[in-house]
Amino acid sequence: MEFWNGVASLKRNHAGARIADLLTDARLARFTARAAGLHFDFSKTAIDDGALDTLLAMAAGVPERRDAMFGGARINETEGRAVLHTALRAGDDASVEVDGADVMPPVRETLARMRGFAEDVRSGRFMGQGGRITDVVNIGIGGSDLGPAMAAQALAPFHDGPRCHFVSNVDGADWAETRKGLDPATTLVVVASKTFTTQETMTNARTAWDLMAASVDDPAAQFAALSSAADKTADWGIDPSQVFGFEDWVGGRYSMWGPIGLSLMLAIGPDQFDRFLAGARAMDEHFREAPLEHNMPVLLALVGIWHHQVCGYPTRAVLPYDDRLARLPAYLQQLEMESNGKGVTMDGKALEGPAGPVVWGEPGTNGQHAFYQLIHQGLTPVPCEFMVAAKGHEPELDHHHRLLIANCLAQSEALLRGRDLDEARGKVAGQFEGEELERQAAHRVFAGNRPSTMLIYERMDPFTLGAVVALYEHRVFVEGAMLGINSFDQWGVELGKELAGALAPMIEGKDASAKDASTRTLLAQLRAWRGAD
Ligand code: F6P
Repeated sequence: MEFWNGVASLKRNHAGARIADLLTDARLARFTARAAGLHFDFSKTAIDDGALDTLLAMAAGVPERRDAMFGGARINETEGRAVLHTALRAGDDASVEVDGADVMPPVRETLARMRGFAEDVRSGRFMGQGGRITDVVNIGIGGSDLGPAMAAQALAPFHDGPRCHFVSNVDGADWAETRKGLDPATTLVVVASKTFTTQETMTNARTAWDLMAASVDDPAAQFAALSSAADKTADWGIDPSQVFGFEDWVGGRYSMWGPIGLSLMLAIGPDQFDRFLAGARAMDEHFREAPLEHNMPVLLALVGIWHHQVCGYPTRAVLPYDDRLARLPAYLQQLEMESNGKGVTMDGKALEGPAGPVVWGEPGTNGQHAFYQLIHQGLTPVPCEFMVAAKGHEPELDHHHRLLIANCLAQSEALLRGRDLDEARGKVAGQFEGEELERQAAHRVFAGNRPSTMLIYERMDPFTLGAVVALYEHRVFVEGAMLGINSFDQWGVELGKELAGALAPMIEGKDASAKDASTRTLLAQLRAWRGAD
């Protein structure tokens, strides 16, 4: 079924169901999916059986495109590239061909080198010039930062390697704050950049280099590089044994499974990193094999299409009830919004409707005391994607974890059922009467019927995190495939980069007369405050 016809039909025929009316025991069989240790429940949405049938019909073309991706076809058509981040986690027996050549031998060779290097650093065989490596600083941004930074925090209970720090922002504050706790002589700097041209990363790497050069005899010896641009990393004089390359078929925001994951591997060790890859691989297998109606990434994508394109909800919130997943929403912002924040179809035609929604979120329970007010009573529904583990990592604090789970379930229940005026009146009946009672009660009404999904698992560990991230990667893929857009380029980030390059000299006084009136005035004021005029 053509996508936008499907959307129109869903709007016409399936809008307006009340979630509570749909929510029978029988519904759970069809509106849950299990894979790779994850249990996904989307029964608390207003998708009825007929709507799900239509959504599944709209996704009929996805398997062909999915197989093209896994098979190494150049589905990133605007950049003429294959999309094979899945090859980075494909395991020992896999063979994946691009243009007739198996890409797996070099993938395995690089992974083995990463493993060897990580073991050397972690065991002390690789030493800094002041002794054993105590700290690793990953310098990268976007996909060269968010994945490993998110995962390193998420998997903190598994850390048994050097401390890991992540510097991304060109704001010198980021470097300065990180640098405070470092002894350069026992620090390994990992420069992570697919292109090795990104302004922020190169600026931070130069600053780190200057510190090293002032502190140790051989600065290059304490640098490693993770990049597709072997020619550029060579210019830095870094020993090739400390350079880990990958191919252009690994998109930046899909790159944490290979060299860009080195700092995570240094933190948790190669064996746990393997578990992380295994979790993603399990989700890949499920995505490739499960029928669409039981396929978790497909179903998660259909929920996304339902809420954004059909219901018109402009945003969705990702709400992990796991404090260590604090960076997951930021990670998913890049994954989802850089991938599907597009305005044209693959063939360059304007989209008939919106592609990707705004994605945002915070861990619970913190968010409950901040923005959940709007989620419960604001007039624009925000579909909420909750996630929570059955067990925490602090058995001695299990009473905390019980409260965490209770809060997570309570929020999805509150969104579903709301509170009507009668119930609200009952809440305030003892305190107020007459008109004041009515006024007070009105403020306590919750519309309810607000959609949410729930992802649960036994415990957050490397395998589970791998599965969760791969789930979201494939969700983005399915949404993009259904919309007919290219989820693997990111031309929208280019203009700002070009303009920043041109503006930098103007901060120091280069002629800015060609700029618009607002930018000229702002430049003049900033220059004045900088003491330049
Ligand atoms: O500007 C966006 C972007 O190109 C992302 O797609 C990418 O993850 C990030 O910049 C960093 O790029 P690189 O790894 O080449 O430094």
